[in-house]
This record gives sequence, C-alpha cells and structure tokens, in this order.
Amino acid sequence: MRCLLLSKLIISITLIIFNQIISSNCALFIDTKAIFIGDKLYCLDLTQFFYVDLAGISLDTDELVKQSKWIDLTNIKPKPDNLGFRNPIPSGNKIMFLDEFAGNFYVNAFDTTLKKWEINQYVNNVQQPKLFIPFTNWISDEKTGKSYLTQTLLNEKVLIFDTINMVLNISASVPKIFSEKYPSGGFLNSYDKYVQVLIPNGQILFIGGIINNINLPMDSLLVYDTINDIWQILNTTGKAPEARTDHTAVSTSDGRVIVFGGVSKQSTPALPHLSILNISKTPYEWLTPIVENPIGAFSGHTSVMVNNYMISAFGKNESNKDPLINSLSEDFYKLNVSDPLKYKWSLLAKYNYRDNSPKTTQTAFVGNNSFAPSETEVSAVANSSFNEDVSRTRLAQNNKESSSNNETKNI
Ligand SMILES: *[C@@H]1O[C@H](CO)[C@@H](O)[C@H](O)[C@H]1NC(C)=O
Ligand SMILES: *[C@@H]1O[C@H](CO)[C@@H](O)[C@H](O)[C@H]1NC(C)=O
Ligand SMILES: *[C@@H]1O[C@H](CO)[C@@H](O)[C@H](O)[C@H]1NC(C)=O
Ligand SMILES: *[C@@H]1O[C@H](CO)[C@@H](O)[C@H](O)[C@H]1NC(C)=O
Ligand SMILES: *[C@@H]1O[C@H](CO)[C@@H](O)[C@H](O)[C@H]1NC(C)=O
Ligand SMILES: *[C@@H]1O[C@H](CO)[C@@H](O)[C@H](O)[C@H]1NC(C)=O
Ligand SMILES: *[C@@H]1O[C@H](CO)[C@@H](O)[C@H](O)[C@H]1NC(C)=O
Ligand SMILES: *[C@@H]1O[C@H](CO)[C@@H](O)[C@H](O)[C@H]1NC(C)=O
Repeated sequence: MRCLLLSKLIISITLIIFNQIISSNCALFIDTKAIFIGDKLYCLDLTQFFYVDLAGISLDTDELVKQSKWIDLTNIKPKPDNLGFRNPIPSGNKIMFLDEFAGNFYVNAFDTTLKKWEINQYVNNVQQPKLFIPFTNWISDEKTGKSYLTQTLLNEKVLIFDTINMVLNISASVPKIFSEKYPSGGFLNSYDKYVQVLIPNGQILFIGGIINNINLPMDSLLVYDTINDIWQILNTTGKAPEARTDHTAVSTSDGRVIVFGGVSKQSTPALPHLSILNISKTPYEWLTPIVENPIGAFSGHTSVMVNNYMISAFGKNESNKDPLINSLSEDFYKLNVSDPLKYKWSLLAKYNYRDNSPKTTQTAFVGNNSFAPSETEVSAVANSSFNEDVSRTRLAQNNKESSSNNETKNI
C-alpha cells in the first residue's frame, strides 16, 4: 500500500526519484543481519547500525518490544571512515569489521559494552590471502574466538581470523571434493547463495545455494571441519526439503539445525518453509515439524538464536501474492523451538510499535523523531518524496526519545 501510494506520487513529480525509490522497493532493511550479544539484537547493513534492546523482555510472553527500544548506533563518533556495516564479525562483546588497505589488514571494532569504536587495529597477517572479497558472511566460533570466511570460488582457501589474537590466516585445504563432484567444464566454478551454520562439533554446514546455475539438493551438504581443516560432502537421510536460496539456518544447543524460508526460484517459496536437520544422529536427518501460527515463506531475512527462540526479521514475505500489500517486512518474529517436533511463531517487535500511542498520531511523525505508527507513515509518505530518507532520519534519531539510552547525544 505504502509503495503504491508512493509510486503514484513520485511519478507525478519526477521519474528520477521514482526510479531510485522503486529500486529500493520501499524497504528500510535490505540485507540486514542480526547478531545477538548480551541482551540486545544488533542489526547491521550497508548504511544502518542499531540494536533492539530485549533487556527485561520475556520471550515466553506475548510482550511486544516498544519502539523506544530500537536504538540507533549509526552515528556514534569517533567512527571509522567509510565504514559500511557489512560482514560483521561477532567476537565476545565486540562486533568487528576486517578491512584491507594496500595489502595490510586492520580491524574496526565496536565495543557493545562501552558503546565505542576501536579504530584501525593492527592485524597480524600470517599468510597473505590471495583474494579478499567478502561476498559471504563470516561464521564465528564463540568458543575459540575464530571466524571463518569462505569465498565463492571453489578453488579458494578459507580465511581464518583469530579475533582474540588478531591474527589472520588461511586454511591449507580447499573444497576440492566439491569441485570434483560439480565440475564446471572449464569455467570458474562458483558456489553461491548458500547459508552456513556452525554446529557444536566444529563443522560448518553449507545448506542450499546455487552451483553452476542449478540449485544444490539439500540431501548432500558441503561441510568444512574447522577443527581438522578438512572438507567433506555428507549425505543426509529423511525427506530433504526443496532446494533453495535466500533462506537462513541456525543451530540449537541441543543438536538441531533450523532452516527457514528461501525460494526455489524467483518468487517461488521453497517447501516446506520450516525444516529441521537432526544433527544428533549420524547421518544427519531431515524432519518436517508441525508449525503453529505460520508467518509465511520469507526470503532475504535474517535469523538468530536467542535462548529457546529463533528470531527472524526483515526480508520479503514470499507467500504474499497481493501486489497491494507491501511484502517487505520491517518486523521481528520469534519461533518457539522448545519442543523439537512442534514450533510456534509469534510477533516480537514491530518497527512502528507504540503500546501507549495516543489516537491522534499525526504529530508523532513531525514531532520528536519517534517511529511513527503505520497509518501516519502512509499519509506522511504521500506528502513526502523522500520516504527513505525521512525514515532513516527517524531511525537515526530515535534514541533521543529515550532518556536512558542517550549515547549518541554524548558525541
Ligand atoms: C514455548 O514452548 C514450550 C514447549 O512447548 C511451552 O512450554 C512454552 O509455553 C512456549 N512459550 C510460549 C511463549 O508460547
Ligand atoms: C596458519 O595456517 C596454516 C595452515 O594453512 C597452519 O599450518 C599454521 O599453523 C597457521 N598459523 C597460525 C599462526 O595459526
Ligand atoms: C552420497 O550419495 C551419493 C548419491 O547421491 C553417492 O554417490 C555417495 O556415495 C554417497 N556418499 C556417501 C558417503 O554415502
Ligand atoms: C505473509 O503472507 C501470507 C499470505 O498473504 C499471510 O498469510 C501472512 O500472514 C504474511 N506474514 C506476515 C508475517 O505478515
Ligand atoms: C534426533 O536424534 C536423536 C538421536 O537419535 C533423538 O534422540 C532425537 O529425538 C532426534 N530429534 C528429533 C527432533 O527427532
Ligand atoms: C522535540 O524535542 C525537543 C527537545 O529534545 C523539544 O525542544 C521540542 O519541542 C520537541 N518537539 C516536538 C514537536 O515535540
Ligand atoms: C498532505 O498533507 C495535508 C496537510 O498537510 C493533508 O491535508 C493532505 O490530506 C495530505 N495528503 C495526503 C495524500 O495524505
Ligand atoms: C545523557 O547524556 C548527557 C550528556 O552526556 C549526560 O549528561 C546525561 O547524564 C545522560 N543521561 C542519561 C540518562 O544517561
């Protein structure tokens, strides 16, 4: 609805702005990744960095997180130059960003306890990595403080970053077993759009994705053993879910991997929407659980484990085929995973949620930079050609509303 109103308005104003907004699809959160540290959900993408404070929120109730708990960190200063909040590396209470300049590697780290940046820390580079193109995500092992980055070309080694000793190294092994199984016929063989999940035994499972332009079947998983630096292909048992991209996978402490969402081809939700891989048995076994209160098939979302819940946010609701309804999500949902066979979804945080909002909400938008209720946003959008910018500004300044969280005022 919002997108439609916006589009109509923009067409009547200028085509250039129209194109800009349409290309962003009216989404506030694109490729946003969530990381859980302490009791906060940190969310990062190219231009935004904020957290949703879950302190005092009981996930076991239906309590929704208020908008005053969305705290922006984008403009905390002093801040590293030209930092996009991409490819975060969680490490203890820090979120690190590894960067390269003229063959040297350095780290910018955000200390979530002090709410301060540590800028340009030196990284000891054991073996000069051949290539540094972080298209994929770092997978972090909280136990060892090591993070792993696999590149999409199958002849490349794994970057291994020891976040405690600040040492960057590369693996000895390459996934040769995989490139042999999926020969490329002379072209560069690339495996892309998979998700990776680290499980307690030190294996990184690669789930789904595309190789040589075909969706990789889910009953055959590429595995990197981080302890022994070995690549394997593991066959699974049970009824494997449909092959997919743009999904997520998380690992529970009791030996399950939860795979959610994704598409089998463009705009076609992969089935089932929710699948469980039982990694407590060998070979690993796929299960299709009972899902209560399903939220639809999401793609391009982010998922993270918090206690007995998988929290998923943003992305696109691929189940929604109504062009009048905006299927891009700005909200957080939680999945109760306590019961291994039965999973239940509920809403956790709505982008515009105000539990005590007065009925006359019009002033909320023009007023003090709070997250506006959606009705207000529609009318405000219709009167504004810069919805994206306005929203970002709101996001950037939202912390001013909260007296207990005024860190960016201190800058
Ligand atoms: C989550 O699931 C467990 C086990 O089924 C149940 O005891 C608990 O009440 C559920 N929590 C919520 C918020 O529904
Ligand atoms: C770096 O990785 C190589 C394997 O590629 C390994 O033999 C070596 O011990 C590692 N060095 C450090 C300092 O971790
Ligand atoms: C996995 O399955 C493939 C056939 O899909 C088979 O060729 C291969 O031998 C199996 N691997 C193992 C370790 O059983
Ligand atoms: C996603 O779309 C489907 C189909 O319109 C709908 O039933 C479901 O409630 C939507 N999910 C959310 C979270 O809005
Ligand atoms: C996973 O496998 C283990 C070992 O066989 C079993 O005890 C457990 O119940 C299985 N989990 C599910 C969800 O089926
Ligand atoms: C917004 O807050 C500032 C102080 O932070 C105050 O001076 C101003 O009057 C407020 N504006 C509105 C519209 O509430
Ligand atoms: C634009 O704002 C004016 C008041 O500022 C209001 O009367 C009008 O209805 C708004 N337009 C739309 C399309 O909401
Ligand atoms: C907010 O920041 C100001 C300026 O640094 C400081 O004096 C004040 O104590 C802070 N308030 C709270 C509630 O943290």
